[in-house]
Amino acid sequence: MNTISILRQRFSHALAALLDEPADSAAVCELVDMVRRSQDAKFGDYQANCAMPLGKRLGRPPRDVATELVERLDIDDLCEPAEIAGPGFINLRLRDAALVDALAAAVVDERLGVAPAERPRTFVIDYSAPNVAKPMHVGHIRSTVIGDSLSRTLRFLGHRVVTDNHVGDWGTQFGMILFGYKNFRDESAYQASPVTELARLYRLVNQLVGYHAAVARLPEARAEAERLQASAAAAQHAPVSADKKEAKQQKKALQKLRSQADDQAKVVAALEATIAGVEGDPQLERLAAEYPDVGARALAETAKLHAGDAENLRLWHEFVPLCLEDIERIYRRLGVTFDETLGESFYHERLPGVVASLRERGLATDSDGAVCVFLDGFDTPMIVEKQDGAFLYATTDLATIAYRMERWSPDAILYVVDHRQSLHFEQLFATVRLWGFDGVELEHVGFGTVMDTSGKPYKTRSGDTVGLESLLDEAVQRALKIVSENDDAKPGGATLDAATRAQVAETVGIAALKYADLSQNRESDYVFSYDKMLAMNGNTATYMQYAYARVRSIFARGEVDVEALRASDAGVALAEPAERALALEILRFSEALDAVVADYRPNQLTAYLFDLAGRYSTFFEQCPVLKAPDAETRASRLLLCDLTARTIAQGLELLGIRVVEKM
Ligand code: ARG
Repeated sequence: MNTISILRQRFSHALAALLDEPADSAAVCELVDMVRRSQDAKFGDYQANCAMPLGKRLGRPPRDVATELVERLDIDDLCEPAEIAGPGFINLRLRDAALVDALAAAVVDERLGVAPAERPRTFVIDYSAPNVAKPMHVGHIRSTVIGDSLSRTLRFLGHRVVTDNHVGDWGTQFGMILFGYKNFRDESAYQASPVTELARLYRLVNQLVGYHAAVARLPEARAEAERLQASAAAAQHAPVSADKKEAKQQKKALQKLRSQADDQAKVVAALEATIAGVEGDPQLERLAAEYPDVGARALAETAKLHAGDAENLRLWHEFVPLCLEDIERIYRRLGVTFDETLGESFYHERLPGVVASLRERGLATDSDGAVCVFLDGFDTPMIVEKQDGAFLYATTDLATIAYRMERWSPDAILYVVDHRQSLHFEQLFATVRLWGFDGVELEHVGFGTVMDTSGKPYKTRSGDTVGLESLLDEAVQRALKIVSENDDAKPGGATLDAATRAQVAETVGIAALKYADLSQNRESDYVFSYDKMLAMNGNTATYMQYAYARVRSIFARGEVDVEALRASDAGVALAEPAERALALEILRFSEALDAVVADYRPNQLTAYLFDLAGRYSTFFEQCPVLKAPDAETRASRLLLCDLTARTIAQGLELLGIRVVEKM
């Protein structure tokens, strides 16, 4: 049962009648949205605050409007008589009988009473998308787990979902690797572990390219830093204007100059660090001197690859499967699969057509030898073809959208990508609209950066895929320690053998990593901390998994046949407030899932599960289950336990997290 959507439906009928202007459905929608769950049980289970704005609109006292609204409202089957409080709040308390009926339906429903979407939509979800042969970073884990969870949730709600891993398998990193392979390869290392060697080659060439670029940029960057510093100093010593407003402006200008000077100083420092990194290492320094044109040569390798050079294509065909297999290993451990893996290379042949079509429609124009799309409201154009004829990330994304529209006619395409790419997506979507795809919802589901405890973007030690895997290993290792300690501390002695402990640790460790990510508001940066993610208390996977195992252990201890219990005619009774509160929370599952997909936020689900576990704790403290006063109460409470466990397990599954029966 989705209480909130039923209530909103009933409200919309009453509101439409009251407003007496059937055309104004937007207004009704807005008012209906004001039916919410109560923050405080004192005010009932749900609350509607729409009488205030409605009163204003109609020029009538809100309390009168609330009274009339309540009179028109047809909710007697669901709610106790509504109460009007204060200026016109409508407080609703669900009838216990309605709750009991809904629980009975959930007990025998595989979907726990969650109805599939009335209007199923088709979603293409673009997530993970690492650049193969280039170090995968922590952000790719974020994209992977958020995208996976959204796919699972949308599917569960009855939508058609196509997951497509748009891997970067065609970019400039290949030029670097090709160049590195041809010039710096350690053949025996390549034979032993090709991907590790390719990653080393990428880092090496990238470092050399970065070095020469930094050397070239440094003088100008320093001059700019000095200029800004001098202007800031001059501004500081300038006489302060007697005019208050002018003085304020002066101060503001000074602040701006100072922050610009600081930023530029940072740019200089970063360039110097890049240079020092190479010059501090005799071998690197020698290579840098030997290959002054490494940047241009790496680019030339990419261009040759794109032009169909046989040797480069052969190597590319050798490298890509190796790299993908490496990434696949991480997906297997994360429990993530994709329907499609159509990388950038897949679109290569379509790119000239994209540019031609944009030109035809007058969207793309030549500018300084490049082909650009100029868009209203943007300072910079979107470049779709460079001076040298190379196509760009954006060109490929345009081709990808056209392909997806043609193949799946989706209602929505979601891009789960780092928020630092938001300008790219804004420009991309704006172009796509003009290009003619205007019926599709295009959504950049952005996310923040993973930080280390010192507040810098989190980096694995080696910064490559192997490094990323060691992240999983460490989480699992730490989980093993916790699981073992807890097991050893059990009052009756340890109950898990070594193999079970290892299995549990893999599940718990990976879950901790995922949940830490999913439980954040995705747009915020968050600090990566093993201790926090594996904590037994607080909103963590470990806590949720324990909660689940604890609920399940009741059935073992009481030797309860749960299937028989579900099939029996036992029902739930809600005598105690803690029972009622738990029941209400169980029945909110469907609302929580709606909240996830409304804004593509898995943390709505983690927050819900955490609340549910909290309600369960209170219930468990206050209401004996196996030692309930009578058989009926015992059965009723066992049913609440069963629904709690099933809801937690289902919720965690939608987050891509597995549960264990024993911990
Ligand atoms: N490969 C890109 C990166 O690692 C992400 C690609 C996201 N998807 C897309 N269609 N642009 O930054």
